[in-house]
Amino acid sequence: MRKRIVAGNWKMNKTADEAKSLLSEVINMIKDEVTGNVDVVLCPPALYLTTARQYITPGSNISLGAQNCHEKASGAYTGEISAPMLQSIGVAYVILGHSERRQYFGETNAQLAEKVDIVLANGLKPIFCCGESRDLRENGDYVAFVKKQITESLFHLTAEAFANVVIAYEPIWAIGTGLTASSAQAQDMHFELRQHIADQYGDSVAQDTTILYGGSANEKNAAELFAQPDVDGGLIGGASLKSREFTNVIKARQ
Ligand code: PGA
Repeated sequence: MRKRIVAGNWKMNKTADEAKSLLSEVINMIKDEVTGNVDVVLCPPALYLTTARQYITPGSNISLGAQNCHEKASGAYTGEISAPMLQSIGVAYVILGHSERRQYFGETNAQLAEKVDIVLANGLKPIFCCGESRDLRENGDYVAFVKKQITESLFHLTAEAFANVVIAYEPIWAIGTGLTASSAQAQDMHFELRQHIADQYGDSVAQDTTILYGGSANEKNAAELFAQPDVDGGLIGGASLKSREFTNVIKARQ
């Protein structure tokens, strides 16, 4: 059975003290209340990853994710963080290709293919984000657009390597806007993407691929989204910044 995952993407939020409070609250609530089969990935700003590690019991269902990394292993890239560095501090996942990275930092499908490679080469799992703009959703072939993001950044991988990839479908028009895709819209896209993966790697790989939904998912709509057969969990932004709400989202997935 494919993994159920709820990942919290804090983005550029929280001071150090706020981060510690949120970490201890969330981790205690998960310990006390989450009993089911769900993996939780906490993605605080990179600066807090080593702190976050101290709150996590090794071997538990909680692991750490970074929000980005550079495509090179090391070198003169001032301000950047590499996959080997993340691996060396116990990070397990790296969000790649978030629409904010694509939009504000110009990340391209080709560059993301390189990031995917270095992340996998260092034993980390990419949470690969894809999704269409509002304009494309209303006026264009958004399904083809999202499939192309996956093709160009992921389909050079062998089936064995691809098995370590988590996909996050995040329609840009739903991110941070309060506009969630309906559960039917999410299911339709997840189904299309799973089919696309099946066309490349076969049905068994596609059935084993975890596909998360992201975009204004919260404690109110999570249960309905997660009830869709192809929605395996969520990549949660705003709602991951509140311990009670984030825990409720996780509980909706277990
Ligand atoms: P949101 O963000 O839940 O605040 O819409 C999701 C994301 O960008 O990963």
